[in-house]
Amino acid sequence: MKSSNIVWHSAAVTRERREARNGHRAVTLWFTGLSGSGKSTLSHAVEERLFEMGCNTFVFDGDNIRHGLCKDLGFSDADRTENIRRIGEVAKLTNQAGVIALAAFISPFRKDRDMVRALLPEGDFIEIYVKCSIDQCEQRDVKGLYKKARAGEIAGFTGISSPYEEPGSPEIIVETEKNSIDECVEAVIGFLCQNGVIKQ
Ligand code: ADX
Repeated sequence: MKSSNIVWHSAAVTRERREARNGHRAVTLWFTGLSGSGKSTLSHAVEERLFEMGCNTFVFDGDNIRHGLCKDLGFSDADRTENIRRIGEVAKLTNQAGVIALAAFISPFRKDRDMVRALLPEGDFIEIYVKCSIDQCEQRDVKGLYKKARAGEIAGFTGISSPYEEPGSPEIIVETEKNSIDECVEAVIGFLCQNGVIKQ
């Protein structure tokens, strides 16, 4: 921390008041998985359902955030860590604003995801492992990046020349290779209902 002489100012409109008015809790749904596993598609589909239920939501997506807030970062291990740290802080603020944050980032390193979990109040970080084999992701190759990575045109590509560390005990696992997007959405919504984040 570089700044000194800074004093925290507490808000009168608290998170609790916002949540009470919204009628739902504000949590962070953290989607992690390989490029092409379905994180963006799923997070937007979950947001659509929540929005239609009257919830306040916002999606943070890796490719989009790297156009602005994180445009100074690349894909070295250190830059990925900083990318995830910033999004963790933004998700925390979003929750304080009473809004459900949906974060879709590869977030390949377990320690980085655990850092965000530790940053947020207990129970606010819901890790969703979007599980899909590298073969399937490569076959989909929606953005043509696997082809480029195999051709040696992208250094340190996750799953090929940079590691992806599977979550040890995520709150939710969805398998986009075996289940439809609708089934995966149901799994997430079901978890949120069972855990009192939203009301049915
Ligand atoms: S993370 O590793 O820092 O969490 P993030 O989710 O923000 O990654 O961005 C991943 C997206 O960047 C991928 O979906 C892909 O479109 C693009 N990308 C570009 N270069 C790489 C790379 N070397 N490894 C992984 N993804 C990359």
